[in-house]
Amino acid sequence: MIGNDTAKASHDQPARPQDSAFLRACRGEPVPHTPVWFMRQAGRSLPEYHKVRQGIPMLESCTRPDLVTEITLQPVRRYAVDAAIFYSDIMVPLKAIGLDLDIVPGVGPVVANPVRTLTDLDPIRPLEAADVPYVTEAVRELVRNLGGTPLIGFTGAPFTLASYLVEGGPSRDHVATKALMYGAPDVWHALLSRLAGISSAFLRVQVEAGASAVQLFDSWAGALAPADYETYVRPHSQAVLEEVGRLGVPRIHFGVGTGELLPQMAAAGADVVGIDWRVPLSAGIDRVAGRAVQGNLDPALVFAPWEVVAEKARAILADGMRAPGHIFNLGHGVLPQTDPDMLARLVEFVHTESARH
Ligand code: CP3
Repeated sequence: MIGNDTAKASHDQPARPQDSAFLRACRGEPVPHTPVWFMRQAGRSLPEYHKVRQGIPMLESCTRPDLVTEITLQPVRRYAVDAAIFYSDIMVPLKAIGLDLDIVPGVGPVVANPVRTLTDLDPIRPLEAADVPYVTEAVRELVRNLGGTPLIGFTGAPFTLASYLVEGGPSRDHVATKALMYGAPDVWHALLSRLAGISSAFLRVQVEAGASAVQLFDSWAGALAPADYETYVRPHSQAVLEEVGRLGVPRIHFGVGTGELLPQMAAAGADVVGIDWRVPLSAGIDRVAGRAVQGNLDPALVFAPWEVVAEKARAILADGMRAPGHIFNLGHGVLPQTDPDMLARLVEFVHTESARH
């Protein structure tokens, strides 16, 4: 193991993750302060991440428990965030079942043989725990190191995974994905139900190894109109959320540009709904009917002067008080150019400001 010093945040955390502000907020219980973590907190904005990743391809780094443990702990040490997010990628379970894909720096996931027909589904087989022994090992090691800081496991939602598999890479308009969805609904539903099985299995591995919450990332679901989301996507995301609901950990459901989909994303079985920065948090709270919320500072806002950041963060904290539970986060992932000192300052601000209420 590279860095086995206990995470900084654990000094302020109760001994058990179950009692942490983060899990209390997920469950809608009173909290000593508003918990905060950042999507993509582990990774490209941290110099210590670049240092340990040097010369090691992204997907390979995800198969090395020593690196996964170190990279997951880096932002916890630096920022004293209220939760760690497991360092991996939404493409890892698909690579683990043998699909030919890679993550190209500056581009994103690239898939060698895009899925277009029923026979293209043949290689998309169920995921077994034995396919990802490095995930089990890294989660166990992390839980030992994190003390009372909870670990969030995650997976990609069926639509977002399908978008990469069908397009063969990142896409702005999701044209091939939508052509398959509208034009060959039998292939589409067969693909999404296979992906739902893989996503559920990937979450199960993480929870059984000790992750104490999960996040389902449907990053690109915002490309869909509500009626199409309902027909082609919601049932498959719901299958994942219902399956993992049996494991007894809180489920966070997040997508980008999903303002119009928030009621359906909540109804799919989320305990916490992630709100992106385009939707005022108070409007988001109204749309998710009694669920806890997570969000939603614009990730680009941390490039503004501190006074502006503080003012926006204060307004989000005040809005969040109206929800049964609020977890402070950005409205999407940390941008690579982000100044880590700004995030450290933001975490401290969220903790002190919210403790005053
Ligand atoms: O800190 C964390 O949030 C944990 C780790 C994490 C990564 N990817 C590591 C990563 C998580 C939760 C993800 C999820 C993920 N991966 C999503 C959903 C979240 C979101 O941001 O919407 C998506 C869509 C992907 C697919 C993916 N993987 C993209 C678009 C990219 C960026 C490609 C680029 O270089 O622009 C990746 C690569 C990736 N995943 C990196 C990291 C740290 C960067 C790898 C590098 O160092 O080059």
